[in-house]
Amino acid sequence: MAFVTEDNITELAVGRWGTAHSPRTAELLGALVRHLHEFAREVNLTEDEWAAAVDWLTRTGQTCDEKRQEFILASDVLGLSMLVVQLNNRFDERATPATVLGPFHIDGSPPAESGHDMSDGLPGTPLFVTGTVTDVEGKAVPGAVLDVWQADADGVYEAQIPDVDEARLRAKYQARDDGSYCVRTIAPLGYTIPMDGPVGELIGQTDISEYRPAHVHFLLDEPGYAKLVTHLFPEGTEYLDSDVVFGVRDTLVVPFVRHEPGPSPDGGVMDRPFLVAAYDFVLQPES
Ligand code: BEZ
Ligand code: FE
Repeated sequence: MAFVTEDNITELAVGRWGTAHSPRTAELLGALVRHLHEFAREVNLTEDEWAAAVDWLTRTGQTCDEKRQEFILASDVLGLSMLVVQLNNRFDERATPATVLGPFHIDGSPPAESGHDMSDGLPGTPLFVTGTVTDVEGKAVPGAVLDVWQADADGVYEAQIPDVDEARLRAKYQARDDGSYCVRTIAPLGYTIPMDGPVGELIGQTDISEYRPAHVHFLLDEPGYAKLVTHLFPEGTEYLDSDVVFGVRDTLVVPFVRHEPGPSPDGGVMDRPFLVAAYDFVLQPES
């Protein structure tokens, strides 16, 4: 058996972790060891720096609970979440691109008919998001369900508020038989990611903007199609080119057009100005 030297330690550790019983686990751990060792060599990692990193990782874990996942946030701001999304969702160029899920999605939102107002009287400019859900050939996906969620006018998601009784700014809209849908909500605003934990502490040591541009989240999970997790962003909104979690893709930036009081896309009449965003979701066939 070879004893350890600075030169052979990587080979020894890769070999040891290559004994993992699952070939994929062996591949993952072997590559992880090689890249970690390469990182330490490249930056000539000091013992104090490694101790500080372990302390940061420890505090990151301690910041997690049922509502908060600081490790996912770390992965988001490092661009790793968005890279993994892109590696795993290489869609047809006609399909709606995927983005990060984020930490604020809540399962089991209540069902809603087209036109339902998921803002339920919360302050903000009324917004209608309308369009169709189709496959890449343009064929309607009748009755597709659009699971929609967003932050309120203060940038706060329901998941961040304790003891909320009813769904707040979230609903599962069912498209009509022709694939058309109409979401009624309020205009989203940009907001900052949680900055009071270890991730915020690191961001604070850089020139990185902690803001996400305004957006509405959508999740469509129809049988026969790849699950789509995405967002829509208003054209011209702040932070599009500096999104702290790298979630903006060009075709997801759409005009939010201002209308004066009058007929609205839900078939009603609005007595105050409102916005309309038109977007056709295109689903990728399941591979
Ligand atoms: C979000 O858009 O909800 C989000 C995504 C990643 C990190 C923080 C928030
Ligand atoms: Fe969000």
